[in-house]
Amino acid sequence: MTLPPAALRRLLLAWYRGHARPLPWRSDADPYRVWVAETMLQQTTISAARSRYEAFLRRFPSVRALARARSDQVLRAWTGLGYYARARNLHAAARRVARRRGEGFPRDLQSWLALPGVGRYTAAAVCSIAFGRPHAVLDGNVARVLCRLFALRRDPRRAAARRRLAELAQALLDPRRPGDWNQALMELGEVVCTPKRPGCPACPLRGSCSARRRGIQALLPALGRRAAPLGLRWTCLWIERRGRVLLWKRGQDEFLLKGHWGLPEAGRLAALVAEPLKTIRHSITRYRIELELRRASLRGPKPRQARWVKRSRLRESLVSSLWLKLLDD
Ligand code: ADE
Repeated sequence: MTLPPAALRRLLLAWYRGHARPLPWRSDADPYRVWVAETMLQQTTISAARSRYEAFLRRFPSVRALARARSDQVLRAWTGLGYYARARNLHAAARRVARRRGEGFPRDLQSWLALPGVGRYTAAAVCSIAFGRPHAVLDGNVARVLCRLFALRRDPRRAAARRRLAELAQALLDPRRPGDWNQALMELGEVVCTPKRPGCPACPLRGSCSARRRGIQALLPALGRRAAPLGLRWTCLWIERRGRVLLWKRGQDEFLLKGHWGLPEAGRLAALVAEPLKTIRHSITRYRIELELRRASLRGPKPRQARWVKRSRLRESLVSSLWLKLLDD
């Protein structure tokens, strides 16, 4: 039997009170803290985000501190989290918020949506958790829980199914405790209603779950085939002179790792390319990069986008795990 929303809310919120993990962003519903956490959590697992979150907040304890920072400092604090566009957007949005002077943070969904990098998920999460606004979040965890609860067999990545899920999420939302409700649903998806082997015996909603009643919980959500990864081949150059290595600042028009310092790619500067040194493989989003590193020497003057960095200090200038892996292997 599917219970009415009020009963589902009572069950799930009672479970959440007893089971919520003490995650660092839960200690305080300050909008800046919540915003940083939700931005990190968009494409990063809780365990990876958790260790970076405190360090990021120590480095940039307020929106003003973040707004004042240089972009390379912000990218550095994002090391290991990947999807660096999030850090660039967070920084640009912090500058806008800091310019609002006496007004502080926006409090309504539309104003959050107007900030760079803030989509429907982040706006709803921040508005509900920090300001108690009644907006439901719909991330992959919530989608999975709802597909099972209502035995929806459509692929939640398709637009029509997402619209239906968004309606269901909004109808279920507890308007009195929207922040806790949203977090409780996400938490349930992360720790109980997991993708592969859902832990139904521990689920507070098991008595109302249509998929479980039919025994199809492990078959849902019905995800179609994922897009295949795309292979890329890069050749990068190790140009060393008197203990210093040439680094290259990637432009904003680059396809991947925009604005990052890295080793120069062959073809970007005049160089005499010599023997291969090593090859590594690394994935960034859906791209599988095979990177060959070759020794080379610079011909002509140092280009404007390049600088010499002491070999012993290379790690301090490189942010992406791609370069760190290259230095490690
Ligand atoms: N996933 C993303 N944000 C979350 C939150 N605030 N609580 C639990 N899981 C989450």
